[in-house]
Amino acid sequence: MQTIETQIDQTSTAATAPILAVRNIEVVYDDVILVLRGLSLDVPKGSIVALLGANGAGKSTTLKAISGLLKTEDGEVTRGEILFDGERIDGIDPEKIVRRGIFQVMEGRRIVADMTSLENLRLGAFTRSDGGIAADIDMVFNYFPRLKERTGLAGYLSGGEQQMLAIGRALMARPKMILMDEPSMGLSPLLVKEVFAIIQAINRDLGVTILLVEQNARAALSVASHGYIMEQGKVVLDGTADELRDNEDVKEFYLGGAGDQRKSFKNLKSFKRRKRWL
Ligand SMILES: Nc1ncnc2c1ncn2[C@@H]1O[C@H](COP(=O)(O)OP(=O)(O)O)[C@@H](O)[C@H]1O
Ligand SMILES: [Mg+2]
Repeated sequence: MQTIETQIDQTSTAATAPILAVRNIEVVYDDVILVLRGLSLDVPKGSIVALLGANGAGKSTTLKAISGLLKTEDGEVTRGEILFDGERIDGIDPEKIVRRGIFQVMEGRRIVADMTSLENLRLGAFTRSDGGIAADIDMVFNYFPRLKERTGLAGYLSGGEQQMLAIGRALMARPKMILMDEPSMGLSPLLVKEVFAIIQAINRDLGVTILLVEQNARAALSVASHGYIMEQGKVVLDGTADELRDNEDVKEFYLGGAGDQRKSFKNLKSFKRRKRWL
């Protein structure tokens, strides 16, 4: 069984090599709390992939497993593997993962409130010693002109501006891949549109691969090419953004707008879990 799957995997990766491959990972916090239970996903190079799911599904944990930030919360990948550019990165220190080219934009923005935008941006370039930092600051201000106008402390920026600064700071690391945790959180519908348009532009112009975690499935599927839906630490469905948008169950649970996510895919007779990863 295992051999056949390995063969299938190798054939498919030859066609579209993913820059990031998460293979059947388990994550445990504090040695006992099992949160991810065999999660797998692929992110093709240069793509935007959405990781969707209700609160508590394990989306942030997945991003922290990839960026190595789990370590700072006493979490650990106890099974499976994470490959970036073909190399294992699970268990590596977060700073080394940044140097390999992955930058995580944390949930809740996490900018440094008592520094200016400019200082926050310079902080994002901490791994760099090249001469391109000033030019990249200009580039970030081009994407987010209002950050340039606001010269005061970042703590006084609006929620939308802080989100923009957090994304700009990630760009300063010149990453190959950005992990974004709920960039729409707390933003007005208009600002969500604006921020997502910029996410799309960054992906298109700079070729940065993006793994986008969202509870706002509609916004995420409008920019992603592919999506995964998680429940209770596992992927329960995946497909192209179009397939997911057209899927009746996805419409009901994630695109309905009511925000009632007490129902679960697991309880659906019509829903058959794809056995790809088993
Ligand atoms: N540092 C932690 N220690 C223990 N449990 C955690 C920790 N972080 C998250 N969890 C638990 O893991 C589960 C998934 O959380 P999380 O990954 O934040 O989900 P999501 O981002 O999808 O809302 C939740 O039940 C949460 O309580
Ligand atoms: Mg989260």
